[in-house]
Amino acid sequence: MSEPAREQWASRAGFVLATLGCAVGLGNIWRFAYVAGENGGAAFLVAYVACVVAIGLPAVLAEFALGGRARLDVVGAFSTGRAPRARRRAGAGAVLTAFLILAYYSVVAGWAYKYFAGYATGELRGLPRGEAAARFAAFLREPFEPTAWHFAFMASATAVVALGVARGIERASRILMPLLGAIVLLLAGYALSLPGAARGLAFLFAPDWSALARPGLYLAALGQAFFSLGVGMGVLITYASYVREGERLPRAAGMIAAGDTLFAVAAGIAIFPAVFAFGLDPAQGPALAFVTLPQVFALMPGGGWFATAFFFLLSAAALTSAVSLLEVVAAFGMRRLGLARRTAALLAGLAAFAAGVPAALGSGVWRDVALLGRGILEVMDYVTGSLLLPLGGIAVVVFVGWFVPRAAAVEASGLRSGALVRLWLLAVRYLAPAAIAVMLVALAGA
Ligand code: PFF
Repeated sequence: MSEPAREQWASRAGFVLATLGCAVGLGNIWRFAYVAGENGGAAFLVAYVACVVAIGLPAVLAEFALGGRARLDVVGAFSTGRAPRARRRAGAGAVLTAFLILAYYSVVAGWAYKYFAGYATGELRGLPRGEAAARFAAFLREPFEPTAWHFAFMASATAVVALGVARGIERASRILMPLLGAIVLLLAGYALSLPGAARGLAFLFAPDWSALARPGLYLAALGQAFFSLGVGMGVLITYASYVREGERLPRAAGMIAAGDTLFAVAAGIAIFPAVFAFGLDPAQGPALAFVTLPQVFALMPGGGWFATAFFFLLSAAALTSAVSLLEVVAAFGMRRLGLARRTAALLAGLAAFAAGVPAALGSGVWRDVALLGRGILEVMDYVTGSLLLPLGGIAVVVFVGWFVPRAAAVEASGLRSGALVRLWLLAVRYLAPAAIAVMLVALAGA
């Protein structure tokens, strides 16, 4: 079967911005800050940066090399070369992981849409401080609304993917990413001007070196690095398959690792000074963005505007990440089933919407449904984030490090300096697989 000409990014900046759009998402805005806070602040930051540089960055480059070389979707990229069967399964696993993450990610992003709309129209402004938790719970308990916002979010991601690589994904990222950078910096600047901001900064940056002795810290740092960079699900493989000849992949990988990390730090600076300035506790997970922060906004001068900007930031960051996940599934459908882009995007979007409905209901009407002692959304997050994602990561680095002929892998990586090649191969062949294996074993024992 002859393949239609493969789509391409229209520009270098487009590729970098789209990949940054994949990396910067819900993970940077609340997850990073709270995981960092729980794990000793600055100590976590040191471990996190070490994980990004030593393991995350080489893994990003491994995915880029694989995608740039094969110029195929994930399953295709994995099955090029010898003895493809087991590896094709690894590719199919990546598509499935992307699909499952997308399903529940869209539910949480739908909450962000709801809060953005609520603050923009004024419905949520002036919410009395004590009512934030009750309001969020009431929203979740209702069967229709969370599902409708989940649908709205998935529909917008589907529209972007349906428009195509250059006209949809690249254009959305070109508009949204610089805007998001500006918003996060403005919010951080404003948060720093609040009285008592220093305590928030201390929470995020004051070193508690004793925390470095806890193995849990490294696990948290590595897991966060993978989730945040978007490694292990074939997104970076798929995006790299659309680059033009001569793209400098190592430079792009470095920019993404640096940009993603800086974004997380800036979001932490935007969030914690405000939380501490008003004497609130940094709560866990989704509650931070949807319960704690609305209490902060209720107290802040200009809090309604701050809130509108914040939830726009959260929604738009989530959108470009969800688009990347949907593209993995759609690209697979296009190649494997020969579907047109629009049909593939629509089918993938509808299927992921359907798969996310239990998670949307699981925080409300179905909140008593528990699997392994957790709610539906938490189980999907746990199984994909802690299990499938590290498995996907190990598959990529092992494949590139051990199965692709060495010269071809180095050539595809675009690395030119001998020292960097050696460091990269060391990371991809030994360090990253060992670190991920330790993480999986530790999780199994947890
Ligand atoms: N990196 C995104 C975030 O930090 O929210 C989430 C994500 C996107 C994970 C794409 C995985 C992925 F393939």
